[in-house]
Amino acid sequence: MLEDKFGRRFHYLRLSITDVCNFRCTYCLPDGYQCDGDRDFLSRQEISVLVNAFAGLGTSKIRLTGGEPSLRKDLPQIIEQCASTPGIEKVAITSNGFKLPQMIQSWADAGLSALNISMDSLDPRQFHAITGHNKLETVLEGIDMALDLGIQVKINSVLLKPYSDTMLSTALNWLKDKPVTLRMIELMQTGDNQPFFNDNHISGQPIKQRLLDQGWGQILRDKSAGPAQEFSHPDYTGRIGLIMPYSKDFCKSCNRLRVSSRGKLHLCLFAEQGLDLRPLLREGDMNALQQKLVTLLGQKEASHWLDKGYTGATQHLAMLGG
Ligand code: 5AD
Ligand code: SF4
Repeated sequence: MLEDKFGRRFHYLRLSITDVCNFRCTYCLPDGYQCDGDRDFLSRQEISVLVNAFAGLGTSKIRLTGGEPSLRKDLPQIIEQCASTPGIEKVAITSNGFKLPQMIQSWADAGLSALNISMDSLDPRQFHAITGHNKLETVLEGIDMALDLGIQVKINSVLLKPYSDTMLSTALNWLKDKPVTLRMIELMQTGDNQPFFNDNHISGQPIKQRLLDQGWGQILRDKSAGPAQEFSHPDYTGRIGLIMPYSKDFCKSCNRLRVSSRGKLHLCLFAEQGLDLRPLLREGDMNALQQKLVTLLGQKEASHWLDKGYTGATQHLAMLGG
């Protein structure tokens, strides 16, 4: 099992397969994806070497992210490849959901177990204003289809000052009988979004207090469950999660490593640089790759130091899929 010098274990790999995205979320890609560099993303062969190497070191869960992973036409094959790798028990995707109704059946057939959908508002106009696309209906339709197929669904919702009050009340309504977990994520400062961050960031702490006051109870999760705090309520089918990266001890429960769509290992979302695995992925030398992963993990730091205004090399999260 991959373990760092602080005793954290890494059974979970987040693998970006493209950094292209068609949405223009105000906090991430307000001017849309800028295709300046090449689009030399990991091939299926390289992905296979990578996933096998991680699985051999105890990784049991892979999340495919982007950019928007469904912009890769071979996504169903990639899911299938991950799901059939010995040791991999769970394959998840994080998506903006615009292709859900069209694609969810083929992802399910390929072995998808879980789906995270980004949805920052349940109001069609606000959704449009945030993402640049009038697609709320499509996303909601896709979520229902995924639930019907037995796929576990989580919603990611970034907390934005002008929308958070409306979002919390509409979300609570929606969760009454939707078997999903809606996770409210505090906006994080990245290299590109500093003025936006200053104007829009709000803490999740008052929301936590409001939930507790309204009879929501915090669910005890085991140490391997990652940094989200989760809440349930006897009158609601759905659950609420809070992800508060600026809170004390957030990094203590870090259980994930990230690999970018160009084959760089990021020990943290906010690491100063990615560590290039590509030569070894191309060569297909599994032993050398596994040794390198173990050595590199020795460099993982205790915290992201975001509270000190430090954003590392991360310009926006489309680079790494959050
Ligand atoms: N802060 C918080 N969450 C972000 N996401 C993208 N950029 C940011 C940011 N700066 C979210 C997306 C998506 C998830 C992968 O990360 O909305 O749901
Ligand atoms: Fe695309 Fe996700 Fe960034 Fe929105 S947050 S622009 S959906 S990568």
